[in-house]
Amino acid sequence: MAITSRNQLLSKMATGNGHGEDSPYFEGWKAYDSDPFHLIDNPDGVIQMGLAENQLCFDLVQEWILNNPKASICTAEGVDDFRDIAVFQDYHGLPQFRNAVAKFMGKVRGNRVAFDPDRVVMSGGATGAHEMIAFCLADPGDAFLVPVPYYPGFDRDLRWRTGTQLIPVASGSKNGFKVTRKDLEDAYEKAQKDNIRVKGLLITNPSNPLGTILDRETLKSVVSFINEKNIHLVCDEIYAATVFGQEFISISEIIEDDIECNRDLIHIVYSLSKDMGFPGFRVGIVYSYNDAVVSCARKMSSFGLVSSQTQHLIASMLSDDEFVERFIRESAKRLQKRHEDFTWGLSQVGINCLKSNGGLFLWMDLHRLLKEQTTEEEMVLWRVIINNVKLNVSPGSSFHCPEAGWFRVCIANMDKETMEVALARIHNFVNQNKEVVAPRKKRVLGNLNLCSSSKRMDEFLMSPHSPLPQSPLVRART
Ligand SMILES: Cc1ncc(COP(=O)(O)O)c(C=O)c1O
Repeated sequence: MAITSRNQLLSKMATGNGHGEDSPYFEGWKAYDSDPFHLIDNPDGVIQMGLAENQLCFDLVQEWILNNPKASICTAEGVDDFRDIAVFQDYHGLPQFRNAVAKFMGKVRGNRVAFDPDRVVMSGGATGAHEMIAFCLADPGDAFLVPVPYYPGFDRDLRWRTGTQLIPVASGSKNGFKVTRKDLEDAYEKAQKDNIRVKGLLITNPSNPLGTILDRETLKSVVSFINEKNIHLVCDEIYAATVFGQEFISISEIIEDDIECNRDLIHIVYSLSKDMGFPGFRVGIVYSYNDAVVSCARKMSSFGLVSSQTQHLIASMLSDDEFVERFIRESAKRLQKRHEDFTWGLSQVGINCLKSNGGLFLWMDLHRLLKEQTTEEEMVLWRVIINNVKLNVSPGSSFHCPEAGWFRVCIANMDKETMEVALARIHNFVNQNKEVVAPRKKRVLGNLNLCSSSKRMDEFLMSPHSPLPQSPLVRART
């Protein structure tokens, strides 16, 4: 069928590219899918480091499931509940599910703030929650300000089907990519000059891709900014419990303890995809302080309900205080260890990462490997890393990063052995390119994490998996 006649048959949405599937972010996943690494069956395959998944604590979850057979409705112990759960379809959600989620949200914020179950609205993951909140707050053509670099899924979640726009708020490595009042004002003013109606500001705390946690002063300044402009603040707190070594401060604490503001403007997006490591369950939450938004979002949740079977299981699991506390503690400990091991491994070959205390990834600085500091050169390097080093990391440009040479590396979706192979590959790659690319001037960074350790890289290089035979960068350039 000719493209023009296909375009006439289908909607603009069906024929357009609003989903962003062609971006390098998703392209890298495809490279992994066509040649996935396996320690024994495919040791030369692509290692998936583009997926922010938390797979470090599944042993704890499995243990809980075995000890709590009544929580599943498909077990001898739980089957008596099967019928009631299977027929449940109320879009308010099971009361015990909303109670358990509200309690869990408080717990992961150190019980410094309480959440009202009546404000918990469910959606299909944070993905669905973002779209839902965009539908509630903005009309087609309206815009949200978003500090860069930001999670690429936002381009799909907030824009694609709602018709809203995202306007980047500038940032840079000089201050560790911090959100400043001036940058917010500049972005807002520019939108006004362009006749675009700004309806809100979207922040992610802790940040994906940076892994940084916003400090109290920044959060206060963000709230006073949106309050003065009378625009909404959407806080994606999906990584609230995915933190280590630094306390996470929720926006809910700021508006309760620190600063007066119009609470009708404040909305939190949450999900169990990261903190519990359950992205497959599609448990997303909109928590709004605005009654009208809660009411509208609840009606909309019919389009992305969490299955009652999942609600039932999650309600039992999250109500188990002892388990939840142990899980959060242990998860933070394991993440911290993984983070330290990885940053240390990278530092052995002179690779720095932005200092971070959260998330499931590192923000790795490879600008010295670029021939020129441009997005085009970043993509050249990225293709080498994907095709030759066989690591699916994500280039900074796919997060709208204004500086070239940053890459996001996911570290918690693999076992220790796979991590060691990945580090060995990076080590070989950098060593082989030492002469190809002369070290350039170091970035001026306020906030870099340079790990030092007495451990030796040899441990990693003892890995039985193949080092690269020849420099891929040499091959790519010649
Ligand atoms: C910041 C952020 N928001 C939202 C999402 C989407 O999460 P979910 O799987 O719950 O839809 C992700 C997933 O990576 C994310 O990193």
